[in-house]
Amino acid sequence: EITHVHAREVLDSRGNPTVEADITLSGQHHGRAISPSGASTGEKEATELRDADPKRYQGKGVQKAVSNVNNQMRRRLVGQLFDTQAQLDEALIALDGTPNKSALGANGILAVSIAFAKAQAAARQVPLYRQLADRSHYTLPVPCMNVINGGRHADNTVDFQEFMIAPHNADSFANAIRMGEEVFHTLKSLLKGKGYVTAVGDEGGFAPDLKANDEAVELILEAISQAGYRPGTDISLCLDPATSELYEAGTNGAPGLYRFFKSTKKTMTSQELNGLWESWVSQYPIVLLEDGMGENDWAGWHQHTAALGSKIELVGDDIFCTNPLILQQGIDQHIANSVLIKLNQIGTVTETLRTMELAYANNYGCFVSHRSGETEDTTIADLTVALNAGHLKTGSGCRSERVSKFNQLLRIEEELGSAGKFAGLKAFKNQ
Ligand code: PGA
Ligand code: ZN
Repeated sequence: EITHVHAREVLDSRGNPTVEADITLSGQHHGRAISPSGASTGEKEATELRDADPKRYQGKGVQKAVSNVNNQMRRRLVGQLFDTQAQLDEALIALDGTPNKSALGANGILAVSIAFAKAQAAARQVPLYRQLADRSHYTLPVPCMNVINGGRHADNTVDFQEFMIAPHNADSFANAIRMGEEVFHTLKSLLKGKGYVTAVGDEGGFAPDLKANDEAVELILEAISQAGYRPGTDISLCLDPATSELYEAGTNGAPGLYRFFKSTKKTMTSQELNGLWESWVSQYPIVLLEDGMGENDWAGWHQHTAALGSKIELVGDDIFCTNPLILQQGIDQHIANSVLIKLNQIGTVTETLRTMELAYANNYGCFVSHRSGETEDTTIADLTVALNAGHLKTGSGCRSERVSKFNQLLRIEEELGSAGKFAGLKAFKNQ
């Protein structure tokens, strides 16, 4: 029985307010969770409720979302017995009553949903990953580390948002993260040596003013080699150019265009952009490309999947928004072969698990993700292990809101011992 529900306004890694929720079961089992927050969000994400009161936090306060937890949700939940996560989440969805959680706010709803999962884990005395899915064996993920930040995550000249390294040729998660960190620190010296700044962006990757987008790839490959690893054999590349942010829809039936708004200001058609990805994939050891096309460019996505969908992993983030209904449309139309998983895009644990199960049932991959605005909450580490997702992205090699997830994975790997196995390269579609 739920005996206590309480939310408060706390801060995320950008210093913006977000919702933290506490739940107690039977007066003694506690769960606490904090919702993250995106910057390059998909249009169809569940609603992040903000106060829009310019006198507090420049309009970004979340007192309404907090009050919805402490009033409506508390009244509905306290004194009730929910046997399963699905029962709790269905009650929250019904109480909200809107398709995108705009009445109560997905930031408050998600914090309550995750806090309940953690409280249940505490009551059963099991780790969170086992509470989410009870298995005899689990897979430890390849950490895809975002070592160069651009796009909306950094004030630099790089248009594409995320350049990630995937250290996959390792016998354990611990060794994979060590390899990644060695490359991260090598990259720092390399940038310094070339006279670039080594300040970091929102996700902890370096944010230098590079001369061109492909220079980011070249520098990372150099750092991998300098650190003593073989690009493509030991460590491959993953990209999230977040092209919805570059896309401008056409007017009067004209086709939409992608604008390189931070570097050259030049534009490209979907076909040209797809050509760029095909040439990068043939030149560089890229195993995963996320949002290579914009969320409103389904025709572009169709071409893109036809060209590269049988070669590498193509992940849909903004286009699917972790939403099972939209993912089903994508599956029906052969769009992408993998889905990005962000709990706060959909707003409950149950719906997130439903999206992941739908993906697996259709031979799609699941790439679990943090948000650019993160916190010390490490739920995504447990979620990745619970569903054997095989890979996740949770930032670069620094900043505690990022490495806290790596640290949780190190603990989980240690605890699992021989019941845990590192995923390696086969975690990626088509590898
Ligand atoms: P966001 O970025 O958290 O700012 O939305 C992450 C992503 O695009 O994958
Ligand atoms: Zn993305």
